[in-house]
Amino acid sequence: MPGDQETSRPAPPAVLDPAAGRWVFLGMLLLGLAGFASYKMLRAPAAPPPPEVAADPLLLEGRTVYEARCLTCHGPTGRGDGPIAGNLIGPPVGNLSNGKWKHGDRPEDVLKVIAKGVPGTRMSGWDQVLDPGPLRAVAAYAYYLAGQPVPAQLRDDGPLH
Ligand code: HEC
Repeated sequence: MPGDQETSRPAPPAVLDPAAGRWVFLGMLLLGLAGFASYKMLRAPAAPPPPEVAADPLLLEGRTVYEARCLTCHGPTGRGDGPIAGNLIGPPVGNLSNGKWKHGDRPEDVLKVIAKGVPGTRMSGWDQVLDPGPLRAVAAYAYYLAGQPVPAQLRDDGPLH
């Protein structure tokens, strides 16, 4: 019977000695740990927010949004020197930090630029991604970067016009 032939066949040699398997497992575990440790050590530590930002929940939220969404172009302090600023097609990023804003410095102007973007430039509109709260917060942070007080309209949720 063909079944008999099956059972009489010698067992295939073990591919891996179970004892060796334990060492392989341990080695992989150590490699994983070493990778995690070097990631932790080599990652640039996030700079802590300056005290005036840390003390203001609106600016703190704005800073988080800014660092995630805006810093690549506008740069850490808003001078227009973000890592990809030099490679942008179209008009340059400009400088947010001197308060001389091309599109106006009223809160509604700044919010509009951030929400809707500037056609024909790399400044896109963020209202598809950011809810009104974070939009106001990042607009407030733009004032902070310009060294100007945050307009009261950005602090309460009332209409801006
Ligand atoms: C891909 C690059 C890029 C990103 C990301 C980006 N911007 Fe811009 N931004 C620009 C460019 C380019 C301009 C200049 C537009 C112009 O010339 O009118 C600009 C202009 C602005 C202005 C108007 C400045 C003025 O002079 O009136 C504001 C305010 C602004 N950005 C805020 C933000 C905020 C807040 C974010 C993040 C939510 C952001 N930007 C993300 C490229 C970017």
